[in-house]
Amino acid sequence: MKHVIFGESHGPAIGVVLTEVPSGIPVDEAFLAAEMARRAPGTGDLTTARREPDRVEILSGVFEGKTTGTPLCMVIRNTDQHSGDYEALRELARPGHADLTGFVRYGGFGDFRGGGHFSGRLTAPLVAAGALARMILRERGVEVRAHISSVGDIDDDAMDMAEPDMDGLRACAAMELPVLSEAAGERMRALILRCREEGDSVGGTVECAVTGLPIGLGDPDLDRNAETLFARQLLAVPAVKALEFGAGFRFARMRGSEANDPWRSSGGTVRTETNHNGGILGGITTGMPVVFRVAVKPTPSIALPQRTVRMGTGEETEITVSGRHDPCIVPRAVPVIEAAAALAALDLLEGGRSRG
Ligand SMILES: Cc1cc2nc3c(=O)[nH]c(=O)nc-3n(C[C@H](O)[C@H](O)[C@H](O)COP(=O)(O)O)c2cc1C
Repeated sequence: MKHVIFGESHGPAIGVVLTEVPSGIPVDEAFLAAEMARRAPGTGDLTTARREPDRVEILSGVFEGKTTGTPLCMVIRNTDQHSGDYEALRELARPGHADLTGFVRYGGFGDFRGGGHFSGRLTAPLVAAGALARMILRERGVEVRAHISSVGDIDDDAMDMAEPDMDGLRACAAMELPVLSEAAGERMRALILRCREEGDSVGGTVECAVTGLPIGLGDPDLDRNAETLFARQLLAVPAVKALEFGAGFRFARMRGSEANDPWRSSGGTVRTETNHNGGILGGITTGMPVVFRVAVKPTPSIALPQRTVRMGTGEETEITVSGRHDPCIVPRAVPVIEAAAALAALDLLEGGRSRG
């Protein structure tokens, strides 16, 4: 399944067009709405005050409740834009945001309001696409679940990579801060609120498990490599700046005797005792859960004064960003990461066709 996301933060609508959708998949609209609600802003004191229901309208590709297989278009109307917040920033490049790179890339013709196409709001259609992918994956016994693994220097309980607690992860999906440890969640909340008071923002990590993928999917080839398929979806998510599978960067400090996952055989199936490799060897799934972590950077738009330049002239100046921004993107990034991982998992099951 391929997808193209379209729209701008302050335009009439945003959305996604999916092609190569398997036909005959029952579309679970209640599940779709629930996934959208997990990402939507304005549900608690930790998020932006922008209030939008993020209701998805399906314009094509679904007939009598099932996918037709032809292009499926989903649209979400923008209803709560405050474009005035951005007029004062029109020429100023927000440090850490894509204002200046987008300005150069598109010759200054981009819609600057609310970050235009680079707004975090454009992750709403990604969640809609991911929800559709999850409906297909569900029928194939594949599940994707994530939690916040850290905010600033506060860690949640780590996932057991060989046997992730899927019940615990399902339970935390409904929480404003989806964490396994309540105590860690409280400390994260306090830190996020402190950052908001200080006009600052904070980053973190999201840890995700994909269960139910059989052994033998993927390829060492660049285009169909299981690691590459996940990386291309995950690194395209705004604010995601790093990705590690399994033990990831910790491998660099390990001995082989510790890092290797011993193979075991029981009841006719082969599995590994540990899962430091995060369910992938040689670009091919091992049959263990695919486990990865992504780093999400602090929200670039902050109220503190920062040095910048005027776009077009390069004149140095100062910027303080007003408007409505989350002091921490990480909680809302969790369903977005799950959506990106679901699209990757589906791509993997389909043999890596999404690249065209
Ligand atoms: C769910 C989500 C919400 C976001 N909200 C904001 C926001 O309110 N303000 C902001 O400056 N950036 C926000 N971002 C991040 C920017 O969109 C992103 O940093 C920017 O497009 C630059 O891309 P890069 O960080 O991937 O390089 C958000 C990202 C996500 C995933």
